[in-house]
Amino acid sequence: MDADWPLSPTPLHLNHGSFGAVPRFALDLQAALRDEMEAAPVRWFAGLPDRIATARLDVARFLHADPDSLALVPNASGGASVAFAGLPFPHGGEIIVTDHGYGAVTMGAERLARRHHGSVRTVHVPLDAGPSEAAEAVTGAITARTALIVADHLTSPTARFLPVDLIGRAAREHGIPFLVDGAHVPALLDDPLAGVECDVWVGNLHKFGCAPRSTGVLIARGPHTQALWPLIDSWGAPLPYPRRFDVQGTLDVTAHLAAPATLTGIDTRWGWAGIRARASALAGTGAAVIAEAFTAITGEDHTVRVGMPAGPMRLVRLPGTLGTGPGAPDALRARVLDELDAECAFGRFGGVGYLRLSAHVYNTAADYEEFAARCVPVLAGWA
Ligand SMILES: Cc1ncc(COP(=O)(O)O)c(C=O)c1O
Repeated sequence: MDADWPLSPTPLHLNHGSFGAVPRFALDLQAALRDEMEAAPVRWFAGLPDRIATARLDVARFLHADPDSLALVPNASGGASVAFAGLPFPHGGEIIVTDHGYGAVTMGAERLARRHHGSVRTVHVPLDAGPSEAAEAVTGAITARTALIVADHLTSPTARFLPVDLIGRAAREHGIPFLVDGAHVPALLDDPLAGVECDVWVGNLHKFGCAPRSTGVLIARGPHTQALWPLIDSWGAPLPYPRRFDVQGTLDVTAHLAAPATLTGIDTRWGWAGIRARASALAGTGAAVIAEAFTAITGEDHTVRVGMPAGPMRLVRLPGTLGTGPGAPDALRARVLDELDAECAFGRFGGVGYLRLSAHVYNTAADYEEFAARCVPVLAGWA
């Protein structure tokens, strides 16, 4: 790890999922691009649209996506904002979201609804729901007013997949636009779009993909694609989607340019299939070790069974009411970092607090053993 990653030995890094981590070789690639930009800025920006176009075609190949469907955006949130700004939305329309949704994206949906005097309906998907039950929870809420469905491909607070293939099929049958928030999914799944019918899918390459920040993708298919525009009005405006996203004024897009070589470089060094398998196994045993440590103190079961589990991302149930109040997961994240020197993610769902583990290639079993031995007794004391 010391040689390949800039992560410091402390704090304990148990939360790859929130902000990713970038290997040294990718940071070097990006630094070389920055040097080139600073050496001759006018030449750099004149040639940029062509280089961005090449990068997005390479990224489309990596994601097995149609090359005409993919645009590069700063992040998944930005991709969702593009969808909220461009998808048609009728006066008084309703947006269906789930109670597993990423808060910031859900707030964007709420703003869209407010702008059109519409509403947002949050449907409950049980944590342990399998594909058909989860899909039914969403599609059963469709009414004549439904104007948009938003669902996470892999949920942030609950670390589970949602059946976006089944939801997408129903949305298409009803003629309802469907936005999939796949922020965590690029590189975590080999072929993330397989079987997924949707109007817009957004993802991040700076999470599991470890690309330099900020590198998001926007994938648009279907009748509304040409209604999508970059959030920044710029000189690409007369061009069709996705080429209009290749021109964003004076932005530092070295991360976008470094992303394809990062994805292939990681494959060469460690192999994506091996990373997925190892991170899944590690997160699984890590969650078991930590849950056992809680059980030894509380006598309760802290393991969590989710429907459609997400491999490298796992949950452990927190004791008592720890992490259950409004804002409590973020407060706990800050306190654990300050007092226990560990980077963790916490979530709450259905009145229960959870520790969310998110493993990557640089993690080892010792990380989880250390957390179990050193941090679990303190957390149990706080509870
Ligand atoms: C499901 C989900 N959507 C969107 C985001 C936002 O990602 P970004 O801040 O890179 O836009 C996250 C971040 O963790 C997420 O988990």
